[in-house]
Amino acid sequence: MQKNFWDQRYGEKAYAYGEKPNAFFKEQLLKLSPGRILLPAEGEGRNAIFAARHGWEVVAFDQSYAGREKALRLADKFGVTIEYLVGEFQTLSFARESFDAIGLIYAHFSAEAKSEYHGVLSSYLQPGGLIILEAFSKSHLQYSSQNPAAGGPRNIDMLYSEEELRADFANYEMLQLKEEVIKLEEGLYHNGESAVMRMLAKKKHAF
Ligand SMILES: C[S@@+](CC[C@H](N)C(=O)[O-])C[C@H]1O[C@@H](n2cnc3c(N)ncnc32)[C@H](O)[C@@H]1O
Repeated sequence: MQKNFWDQRYGEKAYAYGEKPNAFFKEQLLKLSPGRILLPAEGEGRNAIFAARHGWEVVAFDQSYAGREKALRLADKFGVTIEYLVGEFQTLSFARESFDAIGLIYAHFSAEAKSEYHGVLSSYLQPGGLIILEAFSKSHLQYSSQNPAAGGPRNIDMLYSEEELRADFANYEMLQLKEEVIKLEEGLYHNGESAVMRMLAKKKHAF
């Protein structure tokens, strides 16, 4: 999707995916001791602000300036501080192995870009670090075509499968990796039955 699309969506008054964190992200994060977390493609900051409220040092980024503005407003509302960079996967970079966790929540890209970004992101995570991922799976098309309010890309290449995730994160221990059909109630644009991939993966130590 175009940058303008996201700036326009985030230019609305209401939070596109709500102010509350994604449920799977919340559930997993609450089991961990706080550390340093990276949230790529973080939009209006609902997950970033939740992590900061629970003691995490948060670095978030997104290509959308309007997203950053809303995220910083949400941070103010809850009296927390986050670092939020505006930029794209292609142009930003972070120090190797400098994060304890990465949250990838509804970050959808073209098939080629997806694998490349996963590789780059992985280099930022320290061994033993965790990736928490929730994104629409390929079978979501049957739900979004019947109910557009469920949201998600219409291009099947941008959706996720278990095989792709296993291949992209081959040097990870899969603590959880499954496709689930859930009922999303996230703000204005994720509403209704949806097929998603949920992954909790731990980066293996190199021997
Ligand atoms: C569906 S939204 C998810 C936002 C947030 N993670 C959440 O769950 O609320 C997808 C986000 O990906 C961002 N995005 C898409 N392509 C990107 C890229 N190449 N680099 C950085 N952000 C990107 C968009 O700007 C948008 O904010």
